[in-house]
Amino acid sequence: MYHPSRRIYLDHAATSWPKPEAVYEAVDHYQREVGASHGRSGYREALQANQVVAQARQGVAEILGAAQAEQVIFTASGTDSLNLAIRGIVRHGDHVVTSVCEHNSVLRPLHALQETSAVSVSYVPCDGQGRLSPDDVIQALCPGTRLVIIGHGSNVTGAIQPIETIAKMLHERGVLLLVDAAQTVGHVPLDVEHMGIDLLAAPGHKGLLGPLGTGVLYIRSGVQQMLSPLRMGGTGTHSSDDRQPDQLPEKYESGSHNLPGLAGLAAACDFLRQRTVMAIHAEQTRLTNQLLDRLEDLAASSTAGLKIYGPRPEYPSSERRSSGMGTGPCVRTSVVSLTLMEYDPQELALLLEASHGIQSRAGLHCAPKMHRALGTFAGGGTLRLSLGWSTTQDEIEQTVQAFEATVSG
Ligand code: ALA
Repeated sequence: MYHPSRRIYLDHAATSWPKPEAVYEAVDHYQREVGASHGRSGYREALQANQVVAQARQGVAEILGAAQAEQVIFTASGTDSLNLAIRGIVRHGDHVVTSVCEHNSVLRPLHALQETSAVSVSYVPCDGQGRLSPDDVIQALCPGTRLVIIGHGSNVTGAIQPIETIAKMLHERGVLLLVDAAQTVGHVPLDVEHMGIDLLAAPGHKGLLGPLGTGVLYIRSGVQQMLSPLRMGGTGTHSSDDRQPDQLPEKYESGSHNLPGLAGLAAACDFLRQRTVMAIHAEQTRLTNQLLDRLEDLAASSTAGLKIYGPRPEYPSSERRSSGMGTGPCVRTSVVSLTLMEYDPQELALLLEASHGIQSRAGLHCAPKMHRALGTFAGGGTLRLSLGWSTTQDEIEQTVQAFEATVSG
């Protein structure tokens, strides 16, 4: 029986909750015992603050596979990182290629550049499961293309795009690739060097498990020469010079850092290092496949009009069930979007929380073109369940039972 204090949190695609205990402790310790700014002064706590930033930078660099910690820039959010990358690279009159799968944090800065800077944009279409074809991306290029922007994992369908193939084809043509990894960093193992990514933007508070108010931008070595800073000011270095420093990371990190956030992010990276992103991914994939299988069975056996969106793992569910976990290629994240015929998605989300304590996100998920492509725009989008590091077998079981009750009720 559902108890009102019970919270089945399935909104990890918006932000991760709860955080590992060490994250809360690190934020508290920084606030109470350290409290100093970074890179400015020489007393004991100021040096501890320097350590906090260095540890967070090193931790994120290791998770991303960046060769040098300085290639990781701290920002306020994934959106902030995308704005820096887009507005810092794209020049007046440039052409940009992106896709219909993208979030408004990509679509809106591009729309603004179309209006103010004569930038033209091509939107690559996806298939019915939200997947992009590398050939379609390449076909959209033209001689003026400065940048291609692709989301690694969709926040609506969970589809993982073939970034490595796209990056290789773009490098052969001398075009830069910016990857929005908001839904994959910390959820899916990745390696920016190996994948050939030029710029990667991500929040620190989703799969990286840090506090809200943190974001990161990875910059491949040499790309900083093409990337203008958006924000300029004090860096604690080269104080005699009134020009913005050119070195990484200071070039893009003016002003006082979010030290409480970075203290939490450093602890979160330690946690991820110990638990490993590989192990988190394996467990989330197992639970997501189970949820998908059970919901598919329910959709097939009822007349309630339950429809599930996004790619299916590329091997039969019977095989996954017998082995306990799939071994096929990584085609999706742990985001599951669905519609139920007689319910508006918002109404369904309210019902799931009120009756079963299930917390989800319904609507268009700031991805209007994605919902148009899926045919879900006019109906108000989908209901999205998104799993994370803390999701349990019992929570999946309760979620399936909630849908069984809703469909039969
Ligand atoms: N982009 C986040 C989401 O999909 C906020 O919920």
